[in-house]
Amino acid sequence: MRPSRWSPSEVHATIEHPFMRIPERVRLRSAELRKAIRYHNYRYHVLDDPEIPDADYDTLMRELEALEAQYPQLITPDSPTQRVGAAPLKAFGEVVHSVPMLSLANAFDEEEVYEFDRRARERLGVEEVEYAAETKLDGLAVSLRYENGVLVRAATRGDGERGEDVTQNVRTMNTVPLRLMPGRIPRLLEVRGEVYISTAGFEDLNRQQHLKGDKAYANPRNAAAGSLRQLDPRITARRPLTMFCYGVALAEGDELPNRHVAILERLKEWGLRVSPEMALVKGAEGCLNYYREVSARREMLGYEADGVVYKVNRIAQQNLMGFVSRAPRWAIAHKFPAQEQLTRVLGIDVQVGRTGALTPVARLQPVQVGGVTVTNATLHNQDEMDRKDVRVGDMVVVRRAGDVIPEVVRVLQERRPRGAKRFVFPTSCPICESQVIRVEGEAVARCSGGLYCPAQRKQAIRHFASRRAMDIKGLGDKLVDQLVEEGMVSTVADVYRLSAKVLAELERMGEKSADNLIEALEKSKSTTLARFLYALGIRDVGEATATALARHFGSLDRLQGADGDSLQSVPDVGPVVAKHVHSFFRQPHNQEVIDALRYVGVTWTENEYQTQDSRPLEGKTFVLSGALEAMERNEAKQRLQALGAKVSGSVSGKTDHLVLGANPGSKLEKAQRLGVEVMDEASFLALLTQASTKKQRDDS
Ligand code: IVH
Repeated sequence: MRPSRWSPSEVHATIEHPFMRIPERVRLRSAELRKAIRYHNYRYHVLDDPEIPDADYDTLMRELEALEAQYPQLITPDSPTQRVGAAPLKAFGEVVHSVPMLSLANAFDEEEVYEFDRRARERLGVEEVEYAAETKLDGLAVSLRYENGVLVRAATRGDGERGEDVTQNVRTMNTVPLRLMPGRIPRLLEVRGEVYISTAGFEDLNRQQHLKGDKAYANPRNAAAGSLRQLDPRITARRPLTMFCYGVALAEGDELPNRHVAILERLKEWGLRVSPEMALVKGAEGCLNYYREVSARREMLGYEADGVVYKVNRIAQQNLMGFVSRAPRWAIAHKFPAQEQLTRVLGIDVQVGRTGALTPVARLQPVQVGGVTVTNATLHNQDEMDRKDVRVGDMVVVRRAGDVIPEVVRVLQERRPRGAKRFVFPTSCPICESQVIRVEGEAVARCSGGLYCPAQRKQAIRHFASRRAMDIKGLGDKLVDQLVEEGMVSTVADVYRLSAKVLAELERMGEKSADNLIEALEKSKSTTLARFLYALGIRDVGEATATALARHFGSLDRLQGADGDSLQSVPDVGPVVAKHVHSFFRQPHNQEVIDALRYVGVTWTENEYQTQDSRPLEGKTFVLSGALEAMERNEAKQRLQALGAKVSGSVSGKTDHLVLGANPGSKLEKAQRLGVEVMDEASFLALLTQASTKKQRDDS
């Protein structure tokens, strides 16, 4: 039924005479377009089964808009192009409801549902009652009035007797037909339903509010109410409002079906949207099964439901039961446990996650929310904290939805105790006191303690041991967790202090695997600078960045001494990475861990990519024996390596020099046997100085 388009030249040919009669073809085409647009709207919003892509729908709309622009006489109030356009109001007019908008009695537990069903059976004198079960939407009630199928008025519930005239706002909602689908339609029809915003629409709206610097809405219901009650319909038009209809208040000129479910079916045929969750059930048991089934899917409905509603299905039975005070006797709302509660903030802590992320958490006066006792609620991050301005002593609304961590939604400012102080976000880690870093544009603040911070230990050690880092075979995640939990390891350097004996005593660890692990630890001690840097787990320093840094700086010392500018001169290192690297090495704790790693014998090849660097000791192999006075053995090793020398653990035919410290072992004898040159500490230092001076001269 997709109509062909007018060619622009045909349209153009007719506009030269604006006052001439509308050509028949144009009149027919515009009627055809309206019909098609209404139909596709219905497919999309009511049946949830679009027939054409959005782009094709837009094309139809644009064609109709173009025709109406050329022949304004074509425009009728129910044309799909006429949803937005009314001028802003000064205030909403008042509407007296022809039939009052009532409320529903509530049931809060199963007992009350049994009670409701018992009363219904007694009043009706039947064994079993059939109910229509629906979700109870958490939005705001609206009454729609259609005269001869055309929407003439929309009103809010107000006090039930009088509401506000929100016609021009409701007209902007695509889910509300301006004209009902063709068919047998009552002369006068008043439909009741709920206007709401879906969960996705709500999140989207709040994101936009945030971007504009406007206040976020506390929940979808407030957002729906705020959006519907805009005096400027152009604002409402931009809000993701939708509607489900749940009943008919008035129908004149045509008979309605005699069952509630069939009435809703009829509404759907007319193009009005009804809830897809509707079910026919029998007796209290049937109601409760429906309740349980919907409760389980509560988070997946896509909109907020605060319960379900059971309605006696037969209209004749509804009429028999009648009303009590302001609610029907034939219906009841079975409420879900509230997802929001009021409670007091007893304290505010900042937790450090395993990646170092800092999360402010409110300690609460224990409160039942959705059937669970809540004592803590997240405040997400510093921005949220600042925005909500939660203070110790405040009364707050806490929300818990499904498995989601409870959160503080908002503060009741009017109940703030006098003298309550604004919370100051820490600048140092509450666990390890390292500096807290927040990168511009990121919401999360992080502890820069990395290797040192107890909160990040497991993560840091797991990463350090991983295959592409230090590649410590046998030191898997589970073992890391066990070692940390038992207090055997606190920093990455500690893993090198483990003995086979201690390891063998661990659960699930035999002697053989303990030996293997010790061997793997030994093997891992010799690595490359790139791997070592990657293993340190500096934020945002992945393998590629680690390699680029190693290539550029050649040595750890040079990297550590680099300032922000020189860091940024490395390919692919921007200000964020530079900041992370710089501050990592500025933390004394991290420095301690690196020193400890050197101390336990971890070494890495330096300058391996810096071929242009001078390597005065290139091709020479050294063996160190005994303790040196001037430096640790590791430093000696590093300095030799930096000058291009190889350092080996044992004397062989390839050894060029044996450096002799105090209390040398058996190496001397072997060296003498093989005729290797032996030098004492003084000669060694002299050689180092000489080679370093040469290197410096060459490098500069
Ligand atoms: S039937 C005669 N059905 O709940 C009363 N109401 O507490 C007819 N609501 O103001 C109401 N979903 O806005 C009915 N499926 C549903 C509903 C529903 C939400 C709201 C409605 C009403 C309030 C009653």
